[in-house]
Amino acid sequence: MTYDFTTALNRSGQDALAVDGLGDGIGFAPAKPRKGFDSIPLWVADMSFATAPSVVEAMRARVEQPHFGYYEERDEYYQAIIDWHRTRKATNDLTREHIGYQNGVLGGVVSALGALCSPGDSVLVHSPTYVGFTMAVGGHGYKLVHSPLTLDESGIWRMDLEDMERRIVQNNIHAAIMCSPHNPCGRVWEPWELEEAMDLFQKHDVYVISDEIWSDLLLEGNVHTPTQQISEWAHEHTVALYAPSKTFNLAGLIGSYHVIYSRWLRDRVVREGALTHYNSQNVLSMHALIGAYSPEGAAWVDELCEVLSANARYAYEYIRSHYPGVQCAMPQGTYVLLADLNDWCDGRDREYDRVIRAAWDVGVTWHDGRLFNCPGSVRIAVSIPHAQVVEAFDRLDKYVFV
Ligand SMILES: Cc1ncc(COP(=O)(O)O)c(C=O)c1O
Repeated sequence: MTYDFTTALNRSGQDALAVDGLGDGIGFAPAKPRKGFDSIPLWVADMSFATAPSVVEAMRARVEQPHFGYYEERDEYYQAIIDWHRTRKATNDLTREHIGYQNGVLGGVVSALGALCSPGDSVLVHSPTYVGFTMAVGGHGYKLVHSPLTLDESGIWRMDLEDMERRIVQNNIHAAIMCSPHNPCGRVWEPWELEEAMDLFQKHDVYVISDEIWSDLLLEGNVHTPTQQISEWAHEHTVALYAPSKTFNLAGLIGSYHVIYSRWLRDRVVREGALTHYNSQNVLSMHALIGAYSPEGAAWVDELCEVLSANARYAYEYIRSHYPGVQCAMPQGTYVLLADLNDWCDGRDREYDRVIRAAWDVGVTWHDGRLFNCPGSVRIAVSIPHAQVVEAFDRLDKYVFV
């Protein structure tokens, strides 16, 4: 490996929610560990790895120019995105006009919903559901309609097209959110699955918001297909959202962008964002993206995906072989695993809340599945050095699954 993915960054006291944000266990954050245990960050979807050196170099070069006044995005910013999508996502028709800054992918989701829906309208999402969708959609006065994903006989999460159609018709739905790859299920949708979903959406005039923030983090050689490449209709009726934040550990910098091909749709979404007067990029975030979406950044991501694949595989195999009754699918993308403890708890007369807390007590800060509309489950982010993944499962063995 050229890059260092084995040193655990010491993020304590250095603006890291994953480390400093542990609370009393109520609501969002896991509780602090009891005395004698350090915490292993498994809950917030960011990474314990240093970002790519090319990101830091690009930011450092800009910081050395000591003026930070008003500015416009540089040509290199757009070119970096166009090149990244061409080389990493086989997208050849992207031009500058299709790209627009979004203050966070969730900000982009909200702007898109503002363009497509009226308050009170229903929006189709899958469950398990990324908690950010729950908050952003519900918080803006839209109704979430959940279509459950189901595990097939090979242990792969699948969409249920019949269920989706029934809910679309019953609720007169005209906007759907696709999470591709899916957080927290880790699915990288295959082209035929996306085709079926897009055909359904086309049939019922459902516009699509495709959150592809995870699309660079692909495990074990899985390939991401951008929703907009699925069909001519999908190309023109999808608001796609991307960011370097998950990929390069840059969430604290804020900086995402949309790709929208239809001029009408783009104008509507851009207008929604502009009206807030909050939708402007930080200059350092722009330089970070330019450093990230570079050949050096690409080489770094390739290594990162190998490390994440090994971590996810270890966690998945460990759960399968050591904790009978715990249901878990091997993620194909992202760095999160969703483990369903319901059967394990039922079989031993153990309470889910107590099991969750037993892990938090010993610093295994997995995330409560209720946040993802998935009671009885936990989400485990393995974006940490491998030795810490091993340590987390050692502690689960000794103190939790006993
Ligand atoms: C699917 C998904 N979308 C969006 C976000 C958040 O993106 P942003 O911080 O750019 O709003 C996350 C973060 O975990 C995510 O998992």
